[in-house]
Amino acid sequence: MKVTYHGHSVVKIETNGKTIFIDPFITGNGVTDLKVEDVKADAILLTHGHTDHVGDTVQIAKKNNALVVAPFELATYLGWQGVNAHPMHIGGAHQFDFGKVKLTQAFHGSGYVTEDKQIIYTGMPAGILFTAEGKTIYHAGDTGLFSDMKLIGERNDIDVAFLPIGDNFTMGPEDAALAAEWLRAKIVVPIHYNTFPAIAQDPQQFVAMLPDGVGRVLKPGESIEL
Ligand code: NI
Ligand code: MN
Repeated sequence: MKVTYHGHSVVKIETNGKTIFIDPFITGNGVTDLKVEDVKADAILLTHGHTDHVGDTVQIAKKNNALVVAPFELATYLGWQGVNAHPMHIGGAHQFDFGKVKLTQAFHGSGYVTEDKQIIYTGMPAGILFTAEGKTIYHAGDTGLFSDMKLIGERNDIDVAFLPIGDNFTMGPEDAALAAEWLRAKIVVPIHYNTFPAIAQDPQQFVAMLPDGVGRVLKPGESIEL
């Protein structure tokens, strides 16, 4: 399995001959190395219905005939836009041909703000546990710290955890460092920072708070082979 960070919360997983994207926000993402027209995907996994996570999902899914996996309300909304969507919800797992997906809780919001000043609520936000080839990836989505991360750590042997450190909308570095301890992940990669002024952070300072060898700052386009 190969896992690549593409800036903000964009993660690409290559496994079993398939390519899976989590939260493919590319257009308007000033820190990504990707171009939306180059993206090849078999599946897209979404944590929640904010534009900096749904991003280019509809365009990529239609062009690649990719399956979109998302919390029920968001999956339904995207299904109305013509994508092939698979709804799930928190606590539920499903085995797909590309791997197993389980949604975990996240404490955040989820919704679209429309031009005519309406908010389209897209249900609960989630984190994602992805397992394939005996390896488990945890993408926390956008969330504050919550103590059930201990339970997630106890019940899952997490190889790589992607944790937001940007503060303001999500955990900041200190809360994310405690999350890393509770999750017991072998490798922790900081995400959701430096995309916008409100989430400016030094990822090296975050990594310095973790035990030696655990934290790994990935530049957009850098990968971990598992
Ligand atoms: Ni968000
Ligand atoms: Mn976000």
